[in-house]
Amino acid sequence: MLDRPQPATPQEPTMDERALARALSGHHYIGGRFVPARSGKTFAVVNPATGETIAEAAEGDAADVDAAVEVAAAAQKDWAKLPARKRGALVAQCAAVLTQHSEELARLIALETGKALRTESRVEAGVVADIFAFYGGLGSELKGESVPFAPDVLSVTVREPLGVVGAIIPWNVPLLLMALKVAPALVAGNTVVVKSAEEAPLTVLRLCELLGRVLPAGAFNMLSGFGPECGGPLVAHRKVRKVTFTGSVEVGRIVSKAAAEKLIPVTLELGGKSPMIVFADCDFEKTVMGAITSMRFTRQGQSCTAASRIYVERPIYDRFVAALAEKVDAMVMGDPLDEKTDIGTIISPDQFAKVQGFIEEGLKTKGATGRACSAMPKDAALKKGLFIQPHIFTGLPNDSRLVQEEIFGPVTVVFPFDNPDEVLAAANDSDYGLAASVWTNNLKIGLKFAHALEAGLVQVNQNLVVQANLSYGGVKSSGLGKEASLEAMLEHFMHKKTIMVNYQ
Ligand code: NAI
Ligand code: MG
Repeated sequence: MLDRPQPATPQEPTMDERALARALSGHHYIGGRFVPARSGKTFAVVNPATGETIAEAAEGDAADVDAAVEVAAAAQKDWAKLPARKRGALVAQCAAVLTQHSEELARLIALETGKALRTESRVEAGVVADIFAFYGGLGSELKGESVPFAPDVLSVTVREPLGVVGAIIPWNVPLLLMALKVAPALVAGNTVVVKSAEEAPLTVLRLCELLGRVLPAGAFNMLSGFGPECGGPLVAHRKVRKVTFTGSVEVGRIVSKAAAEKLIPVTLELGGKSPMIVFADCDFEKTVMGAITSMRFTRQGQSCTAASRIYVERPIYDRFVAALAEKVDAMVMGDPLDEKTDIGTIISPDQFAKVQGFIEEGLKTKGATGRACSAMPKDAALKKGLFIQPHIFTGLPNDSRLVQEEIFGPVTVVFPFDNPDEVLAAANDSDYGLAASVWTNNLKIGLKFAHALEAGLVQVNQNLVVQANLSYGGVKSSGLGKEASLEAMLEHFMHKKTIMVNYQ
């Protein structure tokens, strides 16, 4: 690869996120170097809180994909030859660099995605270091089995990497989702080409640069660009041997079909419409706070696991809805980089229009009430910002689009219920099956629901976000396969080879 002049990105952590965004402009990351798109094309990266362009991103196409995949394929041979523990140790070493740069990454992600620094961006940046630390410790766990076969025949399985992994990520938690794909893929001995989301290409690009201080050139590579033009060729590339995708159900189907053509494995983390079920015997205050966390209004509801359907047992229904609205009212919407801010902005004008459309439809529905909470920010600098007041809807019919479809915005629908069977049926009456939570002090009910809810993750009396060591992934239209955890690395980033040795 030609030795091109590299952009002046700072070595030390920087708190000037605007200058960092400008410095990262116009580049992919291939073979341990920043490189422009072969076509020379770029597209604007916009701060959703102000509408201003903060950087230009390289607009990747099939030629860039080919360059990145070839580099990754060449690097994979040497990377896979390193002892697994050594690969793990290098991945773990990344955690220290990421921790050192955590505040910088948090500020940049807040600038580019509109997610509030205190409530969201800082949390995401912290989790990323933890994911690298976790997987870095698992290098010696890539074990196979010995299989009893016949006397004088040693029969064993060994786990081997798949080769080049193509990873396509969305914009809602790009650092976290990139880490959940890249860290296990690397420890398993693969190399990776990531396609970032067009709305959030910058922070993940900085992440690449930081990882590149520890990991060998070509082990991971990143392209920015649009879905069909850049993501499409990545999935289709002959040398990509595995695809892992997080995003919409619609694109998940496209990716899955393209992977099927090549007969390669694919992991899909798609949307959700996660129910939260509240029984009257719950700890009321804890559960209201649990609903606040579960709804992810601090991320403007842009979370696949957000509790977007809340079912409350009738005796506490009115009190619960009122307490919820009061708590959301107290949340501060404003400049994502301001420490006082709880709620930032929607990511893009397209998503903004989509969420507004749902809210308007809900408000027009006969018998339904939509309560707008929190005050819009008053700061003149934010007047073009993509702020939407969180809405809590009651009285919607079950067939409403607001009840059935993923909104990916600060909108929750709440229903009363009278008996457990009825609420279980309603909760499972969804195309999705990503996550669910149940809130009760009745152990029998909690366990019954934990088993009967159709979801990849069910929590009782809590609703925590993804943890590195817990397997994560949905059923039904919410996806295929698992992420996070040791098993996800073994099952989705490696294959098992059987070896038999006859020593008769
Ligand atoms: P999307 O599914 O279009 O985008 C996700 C990623 O896929 C991006 O990197 C995009 O460039 C890429 N992509 C798009 N078309 C592609 C194609 N033909 N081939 C390969 N890659 C392609 O999601 P979008 O448009 O950002 O959001 C739409 C809806 O999807 C949201 O409203 C939300 O409901 C859902 N979503 C769910 C997410 C989750 O975490 N499960 C994350 C983001 C969106
Ligand atoms: Mg899309």
